[in-house]
Amino acid sequence: LLSQIAPDASLRMILRKPPEERTVNDLDNIYEELIHVKALSHLSSLVKRELASVLLFEAHPYQNTTIFNQGDEGESWYIILKGSVDVSIQGKGIVSTLHEGDDFGKLSLVNKSPRSATIITKENNCHFLRVDKDDFNRILKDVEANTVRLKEHNKDVLILEKIPFNTKNEVDGPSQACYKYSVTIGAPEKILEHLLETRILSKDDDTNDTFVEDFLLTHIVFLPVVKLCPMLISYFKIMDNSKNFNFDACMSNKRRVVAFVKEWCGIAKDAFYEDYIITQFLQELLNSLRIDSRIHSCLKEEVKVVESIVESDPYSDSKENKKVKFLWRKGSRDVAEKLRKPIRPLDETIFKVYCADHTYTTLKVSMDTPASKIIALAAEKLSLKNDNGLALCEVRSNGEKTLFKENDVSITSSLSINGRLFLSPTEHLDALTILIEQEGPIKGTWQLLEMYGSKELAYVLTLHDWELFNAVHPYELIYQVFGRHKFNKITANLDLFMRRFNEVQFWVCSELCLCSNLGKRVTLLRKFIKLALHCKEYQNLNSFFAIIMGLSNVAVSRLSLTWEKLPNKFKKMFSDFEQAMDPSRNHRRYRFLVEQLQPPIIPFMPLLLKDMTFTHEGNKTFFNGLVNFEKMRLISNTIRTMRKCRSAQLEIPIPQNMKYFQEIKEYITSLRVIDNQRTLTQLSLILEPRRA
Ligand code: CMP
Repeated sequence: LLSQIAPDASLRMILRKPPEERTVNDLDNIYEELIHVKALSHLSSLVKRELASVLLFEAHPYQNTTIFNQGDEGESWYIILKGSVDVSIQGKGIVSTLHEGDDFGKLSLVNKSPRSATIITKENNCHFLRVDKDDFNRILKDVEANTVRLKEHNKDVLILEKIPFNTKNEVDGPSQACYKYSVTIGAPEKILEHLLETRILSKDDDTNDTFVEDFLLTHIVFLPVVKLCPMLISYFKIMDNSKNFNFDACMSNKRRVVAFVKEWCGIAKDAFYEDYIITQFLQELLNSLRIDSRIHSCLKEEVKVVESIVESDPYSDSKENKKVKFLWRKGSRDVAEKLRKPIRPLDETIFKVYCADHTYTTLKVSMDTPASKIIALAAEKLSLKNDNGLALCEVRSNGEKTLFKENDVSITSSLSINGRLFLSPTEHLDALTILIEQEGPIKGTWQLLEMYGSKELAYVLTLHDWELFNAVHPYELIYQVFGRHKFNKITANLDLFMRRFNEVQFWVCSELCLCSNLGKRVTLLRKFIKLALHCKEYQNLNSFFAIIMGLSNVAVSRLSLTWEKLPNKFKKMFSDFEQAMDPSRNHRRYRFLVEQLQPPIIPFMPLLLKDMTFTHEGNKTFFNGLVNFEKMRLISNTIRTMRKCRSAQLEIPIPQNMKYFQEIKEYITSLRVIDNQRTLTQLSLILEPRRA
């Protein structure tokens, strides 16, 4: 009988039957039909058969019928059999139209979030297939398409992919697979919207959903604060004058913005309060909230939250420490002495700028002063004419020159160990020669080192490294890797920590090359190997690697007379250490070593930077204006490694019978080294000439 009616109508008849009344034949008929539905094409035949027994038919005779509203709880998933619907979003209006074969309403079911849009029929006689929440969860949740594309005005604005996640209080044990849609690619604004609506104030306790953290650690790359702040304000106010004002939805929007700002402040820390745009935004938000809370007393808590964020500003005028002075001269002593707190953009740095004839002037400027301004200041003090163009450059101890660009900042921190700043007419740069002092010391300090114990040295070295490491802000890694000039922010703390690595490396090398007595040299070599051992025990992997690299430098490794006299025990120890540095299979040994350790750890910083650079160079940041959020996740992973390393405070016991603490500290924080490889090799050749 059925076959005599038009196929559509017959199917409708079957679908109108309550599921429990459908016959085997009915189910076959539905199944046959489902094979042709675009929205289901990715599903297996088994799943389609299961769907056949639960799908419901829903028809709407008139256009402009609301199927559900943005902000509602998600109850069902829909497939359009006939007709079309508009997707409408608060503050944007209609962003998209969906047609026959398209589906909608899946996001809120999978993410357990409110409806992200309102759906309205666009024509009379719209027919849908509907799957209700429980059936959806049972049959589809785990097999649902891996990718969801959201479009606005026919352009992709968000591409989501399914990721597994865990909840904290999992009763059914870990075997139960749970999924959530997470952003892989998207327009910055849409990513923010999605984050606010699905992750902020959401109920489930997802332990490995890092979306919020990923966003907050990396937004500076794709959504700078100048754009982010206005977006937050407009999201905060979007419902205020809406035609169909919905009280709950309006309050939720405001609460989400406040909760977001709280998380933001917690993750960005110093960088949050340092930014003038953010402090202004906070004031604006607080003012709006105060006005709102007079009408809606339920917002009182939110006012308190924002007030306490504003009050925690360490740089607010009342606290008056916006400028923390610190000195900076040729060596690193002055810096280290004052380095209790991270260096900030307004902190002052004192340094010398030299001319070709080695006369100089001393300048005092803030860290964020651009090269162009330093050139102007120095030119005036040195009475140099700026007509034909003056250039600021670093001359390294090996004579290499690096020019600074006009808007470069953080200049003094970026210098190499024995590098100095020179100002010169652009056409005479070639004539610049190094200062005597840049060559480094001519005498070693083996006598001092003989006096200091290796454990004591390692202890003080580690305290110092820990301070430097802790001052590094995660954003500094991003500035460095994505290009400092794009952000106009200082990277002084990262620079200092990276420079420390080189300093320790060249220190080991210099001391050995400056020790002319063979017997003393062997003792010194032993001392450095022991020092490496203690650094490793203190989980100071940065200095551990620096020492091993210093010992592996050709100027040292070629000293065969010295190495021959080293007791076997030390030879063995050194070769074990060298293996830990084996770069093969992407530094597998080192990574394995780190995995075994519990924080606090001082990581091998150059490798962290290398990982991030690798991610950056291997992945595009944007595709057609959409952010490649997968890349942001990878960048965040590296930052998470760094954050994990310092997630516990360094509390190593002071070595027993610690002697010379102050002296060692003085020594360790003002190492004098030769950083010119040629000089080191020459010294080495004098110590132990090449054998014929
Ligand atoms: P859900 O959030 O459950 O409810 C609204 C649905 O609209 C959403 O799932 C998507 O399936 C669909 N949709 C289509 N385009 C968009 C868009 N640009 N933004 C948000 N939702 C969209």
